[in-house]
Amino acid sequence: MCGIVGYIGNKQALPILLQGLRRLEYRGYDSAGVALVEGNQLRRERSVGRIEELAAKLKGTESASTLGIAHTRWATHGGVTEENAHPHFDCKEVIAVAHNGIIENYKEIRSTLVPKHTLRSQTDSEILTHLIEEHYHGNLRKAVAAALAHVRGTYGLAVVHRDQPDLIIVARMGSPLVIGMGDAEYYIASDPSPMLAHTKRVTFLDDGEIAEVTRSGVHTVTLMDEDVNKCISEIEWDDATAQKQGYEHFMLKEIFDQPAVLKDAIRGRIDLEEGTAHLGGINLTDDQMRSIDRIVLIACGTASYAAMIGKYAFERLVDIPVEVDVASEFRYRDPVINERTLVFAISQSGETLDTLAAIREARRKGAIVRGIVNVVGSTIARETEGGTYIHAGPELAVASTKAFTNMVAVLLLYAVQFGRLKRVTPTTGRRILTEMLEIPKKISIALEQNDAIRQIAQQYSNYSNYLFLGRGMNYPVAMEGALKLKEISYIHSEAYPGGEMKHGPIALLSSTFPVVAIHTKNALYDKMESNIEEVRARGAKVIAIATQGDDRVHEIADEVIWVPATEAILEPLVNTIPLQLFAYHMAIQLGRDVDRPRNLAKSVTVE
Ligand code: F6R
Repeated sequence: MCGIVGYIGNKQALPILLQGLRRLEYRGYDSAGVALVEGNQLRRERSVGRIEELAAKLKGTESASTLGIAHTRWATHGGVTEENAHPHFDCKEVIAVAHNGIIENYKEIRSTLVPKHTLRSQTDSEILTHLIEEHYHGNLRKAVAAALAHVRGTYGLAVVHRDQPDLIIVARMGSPLVIGMGDAEYYIASDPSPMLAHTKRVTFLDDGEIAEVTRSGVHTVTLMDEDVNKCISEIEWDDATAQKQGYEHFMLKEIFDQPAVLKDAIRGRIDLEEGTAHLGGINLTDDQMRSIDRIVLIACGTASYAAMIGKYAFERLVDIPVEVDVASEFRYRDPVINERTLVFAISQSGETLDTLAAIREARRKGAIVRGIVNVVGSTIARETEGGTYIHAGPELAVASTKAFTNMVAVLLLYAVQFGRLKRVTPTTGRRILTEMLEIPKKISIALEQNDAIRQIAQQYSNYSNYLFLGRGMNYPVAMEGALKLKEISYIHSEAYPGGEMKHGPIALLSSTFPVVAIHTKNALYDKMESNIEEVRARGAKVIAIATQGDDRVHEIADEVIWVPATEAILEPLVNTIPLQLFAYHMAIQLGRDVDRPRNLAKSVTVE
């Protein structure tokens, strides 16, 4: 939700800021703006729409400035207008602020400011500039700290002052802020992706910290003005992985990344001799793991469907109760957890506010909390006492694809690791893990259906509704397929367990309401076949995801998309692939903006 970038150094700031905004566009794309300190002037340009609109407005602008901040917005308070775009100015137009987050008490503060200040936007963020203005007496850091003492809510903040040509102030409470270390130059951003082309050495600001960033260094203090010694982390992603690499869209590239990144998720974690997995980041001894009597998986959206697959795997292999909780519900329903409960927070970005709030609640109740996260150094990764990175690399399309499969892979590895301490024999562990090593190849085979799926999408893109059906572990796969379709094509789609359809949704079916059925060869094959017969009896078209070599499926399906056979417990890793491609090609057929679907942002850092 909203992206901030900043630069201070000896290069021209404007191209670096624009490039940084392009990298962060997935965080919000309603409007954008940039502010540059130039001589003794503060220069600003803002624009409604995508970053390219701002870039077009700035075309031909020559700016020698080597210090600036910029922002791409996902609107919360105040409509999508130029006045509401960041950076915001104070009354005298000498202070500029880019803010990510929500100031909850902005109405109260606004009413105290209005008699003395000229407020020009409807945003919660603008009050920060006027508060800083009130407290500024020559020391910008102190003014920011004094202003922040008045606010309640969340912020990642970058502030510049016209009279301070060697200073950016950044602050954080609840919204991420990263500082990239160069040689006498520093990069600021909401996540590391904009700085990958320049540096991999970064420091992550923690909540309640303020940093003064100058060309000669970074000085971090707490809101109480105590010095903080920050560690520098090395980011392992390289810049090329954050590019489209010849694909038309990030989403397609990320779908095709899956064979390679799945290898990264499992590499070095499989022990075939023992028939187990080793995910050392769990930071628990075998005895501590044995003493856990409940597992709770907390996540949102796509990550929550990965969690549901994890639940099936854990219950099958570990024999302890597992719950999946959507993070936004978990924290408001007084969940029963204690020190024998293991909570996994599952998140691509590691910044989802609902998930973060939920793990804070779980920790407060004494649970053991671990993360399954993609973005290294993200807040969830840092706020958990261990866990596992999924190694999916930068995921820049708003719709999650490769992070989903890697989350599932890591959960499956955990299920085997825990299972081996309980009821899984070395032979069973070995069988599952040997097949796991084949999955990258099998995903590549599933990707060969790309052209066939494009053709199906050409025939099927004019239906307004879809039902996705799956059973067992393929039910969450159906849910993920339906979410992908609705979020990037805007076609209404919902998912049901095959056996549940007759309890209501079957009423919707007709020749204008197609069904996508995951109908692979597993223990529930015959049950699913009956469900598909029920669909056909209502005249609905059926698109089946089926196992290669299944001759029967043509009798009941209008279209068939083939996937290779695998162990039942690993099927979700393969069966999801055609659903991602189906959503992609449907969206393309309908002319949608695949990577930047309307109303969405990738990293949801508001409640
Ligand atoms: C859907 C999608 C979202 C995210 C959800 C959680 O394609 O991307 O549903 O899965 O917002 O995000 P993370 O995993 O970053 O916590």
